[in-house]
Amino acid sequence: MTARAGAGLRGRLRVPGDKSISHRSMIFGLLSRGETRVEGLLEGDDVLRTAEACRALGARITREAPGRWRVVGAGIGGLAEPAGLLDFGNAGTGSRLMMGVAGSHPITTTFDGDASLRKRPMRRILDPLARMGVSVVSEAEGGRVPLTLRGPRETIPITYETPAASAQIKSAVLLAGLNSPGRTTVIEREATRDHTERMLRLFGAAVEVVPHGEDGRAVTLQGQPDLRGTTVVVPSDPSSAAFPIVAALITPGSDIVVEGVMMNPLRIGLITTLLEMGASIERLNEREEGGETVADLRVQTSRLKGVTVPAARAPSMIDEYPVLAVAASFAEGTTRMQGLHELRVKESDRLAAVADGLREAGVRHAIEGDDLIVEAEGGPVLGGGTVATHLDHRIAMSFLVMGLATQNPMTVDDGAMIQTSFPTFIPLMRELGAQIHD
Ligand code: S3P
Repeated sequence: MTARAGAGLRGRLRVPGDKSISHRSMIFGLLSRGETRVEGLLEGDDVLRTAEACRALGARITREAPGRWRVVGAGIGGLAEPAGLLDFGNAGTGSRLMMGVAGSHPITTTFDGDASLRKRPMRRILDPLARMGVSVVSEAEGGRVPLTLRGPRETIPITYETPAASAQIKSAVLLAGLNSPGRTTVIEREATRDHTERMLRLFGAAVEVVPHGEDGRAVTLQGQPDLRGTTVVVPSDPSSAAFPIVAALITPGSDIVVEGVMMNPLRIGLITTLLEMGASIERLNEREEGGETVADLRVQTSRLKGVTVPAARAPSMIDEYPVLAVAASFAEGTTRMQGLHELRVKESDRLAAVADGLREAGVRHAIEGDDLIVEAEGGPVLGGGTVATHLDHRIAMSFLVMGLATQNPMTVDDGAMIQTSFPTFIPLMRELGAQIHD
């Protein structure tokens, strides 16, 4: 797919439902008694795989209308052993959270995925699960999928400090703790997205969250709660909104409104950073939707300046660094993004993939340790290369966004993975006037 410069982007759009909440709505639906109704589900491939896995474990799931789904749960302790392996495709979140869910039940479950997922580290999930009594029957080299888990008769509640700032690790342990007879505590040194904690409460579990150290939290869950099906309204995904937002900032003559974007404080590090860079982003019409604050964001083309993004901000914008690097390419001055080690274990090695893309586009940059440095002069960006996406949706979308403002068109080798998280990306961007073609 190729993106080229054209007129400014104009119009209003609404990006799809949040991926993190969408995965969790299926999972909590499975673990509850009774019926869960979901409005605004992200119907991307990642979430559909989680829905399929929940079906295989005993949930009855129906799609009633676009984005409107109904889940009748099997309940905690009531999961059925799946007939075949669970194929999570590209989805790290789906696979890792479901390891906690299925692994805490006395059943045997096999997890697999695509070439990207098969490269991603799963020890970070298997280690705490082993402490909870879960057996790893088999695994691919280095603790990767395909792998098979066998759950214990009774899952052991633990206190666990996560070795990385990861909501996936935290969530896998808490979800496993749901089917254990005591209190499970997860301690994180840096707070990560809190959707699991919020949804546990929404479905009726008792959860305590207390500060831990300077930036951390300790989350404690009382096991074997009576989760009851409820309604989940999924707000728009700030990680998807990031693409049209940056596109409008860097494409001359743009003025757009992205409607109903979730403003959870643990998810909006990119907005904070762009504002520091001088972006014109107005938060309009703030309101509550599905238990989260949402806002319409008006974004106009802006002269950006380079900034230092502290490592402590990484958890609140972990998926947004590729597109921030694109914004930084058009800024005046140096942007230093610190502490990006977790980017190496995403859908691709995102640090390397971003650096390769910047090189293709003729942008001066460096990787120093875990920091990415982009040096720009606020002048035109050459563009013109072909970027290898390595089965990574966010690399594909980031460099297509870049191509909307470079002197020469930018090509990505594969746009197919965009389906995993933002299936309407191309049509929505085209409606704003973006020139993106197969
Ligand atoms: C997610 C957590 C993050 C993020 C991913 C979604 C979640 O991963 O990158 O896209 O829904 O819990 P890590 O927990 O590995 O940082």
